[in-house]
Amino acid sequence: DIVIIDDLSNSSLIVLDGIKNILKKTIPFFKIDLKNKKDLRDFFKKNIDIKGVIHFAASKSVGESVLKPLEYYENNLTSLINLLQLLPYNGNDFPFIFSSSCTVYGQAESLPIMENAPIKPAQSPYGNTKQIGEEILLDLSKSKENLKVVSLRYFNPIGAHPSLQIGELPIGKPQNLVPFITQTAAGLHNKLSVFGNDYPTKDGTCIRDYIHIVDLAKAHAKGLNYLINKKNKNNFEVFNLGSGTGNSVMEVIKTFEKVSGKPLNYQFSKRRKGDIVSAFASTFKANKILGWKTTLSLEDALSSAWRWQKKNSKI
Ligand code: WQD
Repeated sequence: DIVIIDDLSNSSLIVLDGIKNILKKTIPFFKIDLKNKKDLRDFFKKNIDIKGVIHFAASKSVGESVLKPLEYYENNLTSLINLLQLLPYNGNDFPFIFSSSCTVYGQAESLPIMENAPIKPAQSPYGNTKQIGEEILLDLSKSKENLKVVSLRYFNPIGAHPSLQIGELPIGKPQNLVPFITQTAAGLHNKLSVFGNDYPTKDGTCIRDYIHIVDLAKAHAKGLNYLINKKNKNNFEVFNLGSGTGNSVMEVIKTFEKVSGKPLNYQFSKRRKGDIVSAFASTFKANKILGWKTTLSLEDALSSAWRWQKKNSKI
């Protein structure tokens, strides 16, 4: 059984209707800003049987974080610290899943990226809040033996739930590739700008590891079950969540055109500051320890993203 806490700063209540339609039951929801310690304390007083946390609540736009660094440090770190200070251990082990990101690796020296790859200086305040968040959790898990942490380093989540009840709802002009592609195909933008085609890759465009959001969600349940059932003392573990396959921007565009049956209007433009050339995950550890791997393809994800866009654009 779960409850949802969200401040709705980057989401909306209609998501709860979508979840109810999928699960055929209502999930208790509490509109709380985790930066408000009093409200969070009241929540834990009224909900005394919380046995674990999956912590997603953070601002996540790389570009926005460069423009508003203090807002990002305040929101992402104060929320995490408040939560950790108020967790109801009650003398038991407490499982905590942290939503992290492959940005902690920067441009990795070797590919696919393993979990023991060196952490590089963050390219953005957003990426730094993920690095600092992991450091806070590592230090706390050393001093608090009841705290059991799994940090999930997402590669590039894309797509929507196949029911089209829930999916990505970017506010304003999307920064990420796939929502920009689907909005362009829906006529909301004239064309997609491909940020650079002069990279040292097979077709000159950047390579990423795109992962269907449904596969990503399942990894969280696997992570929680792993912590609830695990015996060994290691209180802090990280897992890369990727497909293990890298696809270039052009491959994503061509795959989208195939699944949508629509040619995409795009142009090559200059590189985007802070972009790395290539990143894709080693899937070995998540597969071996969590028993998780992706089951859905890039086509599945892009097809769900396009159907979701059509539903939202009423086309
Ligand atoms: C993917 C590729 C762009 C838009 C970021 C965060 C990461 C995670 C996912 C939160 C890049 C190119 C993009 C466009 C383009 N977020 N692109 N035209 O930068 O790999 O990762 O989002 O957890 O933490 O860093 O994802 O989708 O922005 O870009 O050519 O209009 O698409 O240059 O090569 P990114 P992205």
